[in-house]
Amino acid sequence: MKPKIIVTRDIPDEVESKLKEYFQVSFNREDKVFSNDILIKAMENADGIVCTVTDIFTDKLLSLPKKKVKIIANIGVGVDHIDLQSAKINNVIVTNTPDVLTEATVDVATLLLLSVTRNTFLLEKMLRRGEWKGFSLTENLGIDVRGKILGIVGMGRIGKAFAKRASEVFGMKVLYYNRSPVKDLKFEASVRFDLDALLEESDVISLHLSSDAGNKNFISKSRMKKIKHSSFLINTSRGDVIDQMALIDLLEKKKIAGAGLDVFLNEPNVPLKLRQLSNVTLYPHIGSATRETRTKMGLLAVENLIAFFNEKNVINQL
Ligand code: DGY
Repeated sequence: MKPKIIVTRDIPDEVESKLKEYFQVSFNREDKVFSNDILIKAMENADGIVCTVTDIFTDKLLSLPKKKVKIIANIGVGVDHIDLQSAKINNVIVTNTPDVLTEATVDVATLLLLSVTRNTFLLEKMLRRGEWKGFSLTENLGIDVRGKILGIVGMGRIGKAFAKRASEVFGMKVLYYNRSPVKDLKFEASVRFDLDALLEESDVISLHLSSDAGNKNFISKSRMKKIKHSSFLINTSRGDVIDQMALIDLLEKKKIAGAGLDVFLNEPNVPLKLRQLSNVTLYPHIGSATRETRTKMGLLAVENLIAFFNEKNVINQL
């Protein structure tokens, strides 16, 4: 008999068809986030689960005495919503979908970079309100990114790809924070071993940190004070790698020029204070949100399931 898979959210058609070929599948047509009670039932009834960032797998869920699930295939690269340590102890394999979403996420980091430095959110809002007074040589000016310093915090796949694009396409000078120099970079970039030094030097800081326990509040209130008043901050990783309240405070007091954020603490609840600021560009967690990329992510999750149930090497096992 085919293994039973429960899918927690709506998924692209192609991914659905592929799943049906290999598994007995239960879908969530309503696309409403499963409650903890439904997740408990899923853990006790399915052989595998396909999930995403909105599904929280706590130790309690992973260690249920009647648990049947043997694999959780996450659609997404970040797995901070799954207690990996507990999964390991309780023999639940966890997989993710790296690589296939890198360029789409870099696109969104690029949008944020240009939006904050050219102030496009505010300018478009002004135009839509009918308040544009006409072309001016000295108004509505942003800054060039060319020649400016981009500081990358988190030189993983996405951090590297954004650094490469910023260097090669936009002519930015790249700095990155790391414990040691990253080998074989195909573009010019300088390492900073001291995070404060990178924060002090950069004109734009871009966060690409994974949200494991060690990275929570990595950009803390005191660290944020190192950022120049003229600099911008971009975050396409996870909301909790930065002290969000402290960031709002800096933005309100104009102690930082602006921020471009695609991720937040406690999504989808974005604080009113942040939504009311004019020096921010805010996106609803759309880093990987293209039809093509979401299909690739879903198909990769299915590949992982197929490999697991056929006792082959699971490509993206964490
Ligand atoms: C990712 O892949 O981590 C995206 O943020 C969605 O979870």
